[in-house]
Amino acid sequence: MVLHDAPSLIPFPSSVRLGEGSVPLGSVRLDGDPEAVALLRAELGALLGADAVDDSGGTRITLEIDPAQGSAEGYTLDAGADVIRVTGHDAAGLFYGTRTLLQLLRRGERAGWSMPEIRVEDAPRFRYRGVMLDVARHFFSVADVERWIDGAASLKYNHLHLHLTDDQGWRIEIESWPLLAERGGASEVGGGAGGFYTQHQYREIVAYAAARHMIVVPEIDLPGHTHAVGVAYPELVALPSLSDKTITESTALSQSLPVHGEPYTGWAVGHSSVQIHDESTYAFITDVLTEVAALTPGPYLHIGGDECLGTSSEDFALFFERVSRIAAATGKTPIAWHEAGAVDDLAEGMLGQYWAGATPEGAHGEHAAHFVQRGGALILSPSDRAYLDMKPHAGFPLGLAWAGVVPLRTAYDWEPTAVIDDVPAGAILGVEAPLWTETVSSLADADRLAFPRIAAQAEIGWSAQNGPERSWPSFRARVARLIPVWESSGIAVDRTALDDETTPEPDGIPQPVTAASAPSFEETA
Ligand code: ACM
Repeated sequence: MVLHDAPSLIPFPSSVRLGEGSVPLGSVRLDGDPEAVALLRAELGALLGADAVDDSGGTRITLEIDPAQGSAEGYTLDAGADVIRVTGHDAAGLFYGTRTLLQLLRRGERAGWSMPEIRVEDAPRFRYRGVMLDVARHFFSVADVERWIDGAASLKYNHLHLHLTDDQGWRIEIESWPLLAERGGASEVGGGAGGFYTQHQYREIVAYAAARHMIVVPEIDLPGHTHAVGVAYPELVALPSLSDKTITESTALSQSLPVHGEPYTGWAVGHSSVQIHDESTYAFITDVLTEVAALTPGPYLHIGGDECLGTSSEDFALFFERVSRIAAATGKTPIAWHEAGAVDDLAEGMLGQYWAGATPEGAHGEHAAHFVQRGGALILSPSDRAYLDMKPHAGFPLGLAWAGVVPLRTAYDWEPTAVIDDVPAGAILGVEAPLWTETVSSLADADRLAFPRIAAQAEIGWSAQNGPERSWPSFRARVARLIPVWESSGIAVDRTALDDETTPEPDGIPQPVTAASAPSFEETA
C-alpha cells in the first residue's frame, strides 16, 4: 500500500485513489459540455495564462454529463497521463467535478502547473448546503456578492441565502412599494449610506449564482426586524418595543435607540414589528412576497420569524399562521427561523432553520421538530458552530460572541443528525453557515470571518459522516494547505485560525500542528 499525503480537497470526496505521477498542465485543451467548458476555460485561463488554454494544447480535459453515472450532484474525475476526464451525473455534478479539479492544481518551481494522477468518485451527503450573507446590516455591492458566491461555490455550497431586510436597511426594490428601497434602503449599521438592489441587479445576482449551480434563497424577515419598513411607510410598523436589555446594551455601545420612522443604525434586536392587527399589513406582505417570488427561480422563500421579542405569542401565532400561507401561495416553499415552530397551525411542508446551540436548551429543539411534524424538514445552523460571524478567538477584531467564541475546531465538531431529538435523519435537508454583518462592512472583513471556518461547514454538508479523511487532524492539514490557495485567489483568510491548536508530542510537550506534521494519507478505494 502506497502512502501519500491526502490531497488538499475540501470538502473531502467519497473516494480518492491517488496515483504515483502527475499530469502536466502547461498547455491544455478543453472539450465537452459547452457551459462547463466556457466557465472552466475562463478560470484556467486566469490561472495558467490565456495562452496555456487553446485547441492545440497538450493535456486534454473532457467535461461531460452522464446521468447513468453516480447520483445527484455527483461526479467522477479521472486524471491519467495526459487526459483528464470529468463526468457529472448532472450539470451540477460536472461543475463540482471542476471545483475538485481546480483545488488539485499545483505549481512547481521548475515543472510549472500540474495536478496529481488521481481518480475521484464523489457525491454530496446533504441536498442543502447553504451560506448566508446579511446584506441588511451592511450593504454589499453586486460585485461583492458575486465574489462571495465564487468563494462558496469553490467549496461546493449550493444555496446562497440573502438576508435582504432588517431593522437597519431594506435592500431589494419592490415596485409596488417603491419607498421600501428608496428610503428604507438608505441606511446601515454605523450610519453609512446603505443601498439596495434594483430588480435588474437582483436578477444578475440570481443568474450569476445559477451559472455556478447555486440557488438564491431570498429572506424578507417578518414580523420583526422591520424597523426599516417603518422608515418608508411608518403606518405599517408598531412603535419600537424597548426592553431594559435593549436600553442597557445600546447605552453600553453608545448606540442610539430606535426611533419610529427614522433610520436605525445600531445593533439591537427584537424591538420592531409590523402592525399585526391591521389588514393593510397583509396586503403589503402579499405584494412584497409575490414580487420577490417572481424574482426567484429557486424553490424557497424565507420569511424570517426570529427574535420577535416584543410580540406576544398569540400575535406571533396569528401572524405566522396567515403569512406562512401567503408565502406558500406564491408557489414557493416557505422557510422560517425555528422560533416559528412554536406556532401550531403553520402552513404544512415548511422548512425550519434552526439557529440555537448545537445542544438545544429550552423549547428550541421542540420548535424545530414541529416543522418536521408538519411535513417539513430542517436546515441546521447551530450558532455556536456554524455562525461565521462569531469571533474565532476572543481577541479577534471582527465579529460578535453572543453564541460563544467559535474556533475552527469547534466549527468542525458537530453532527447534523444529532442536534434535534426525535426527528429522522431524512428530515435534515442540510446545513447553512450564516454571516451576520453588524461588525462587517467590507468583503475583506466578511472573508476574514468566514475563511477558513466556511470550509468546516462545507465538509459537514458534503462529506459522509464516516467518509475518508473525515477527521479533525486531516481537515486541519488540508485547511493549512488551502490557505495560500484561497489567498492567491484574492480571499482574505484568518491565518490565526490554526495558531491555537496544539497536539501533544510523545514527551508531553505540546507542539503546534503544521501541515508537515499532519498524518499521512492512505489510499481509499
Ligand atoms: C438569528 O440569528 N437571529 C436568526
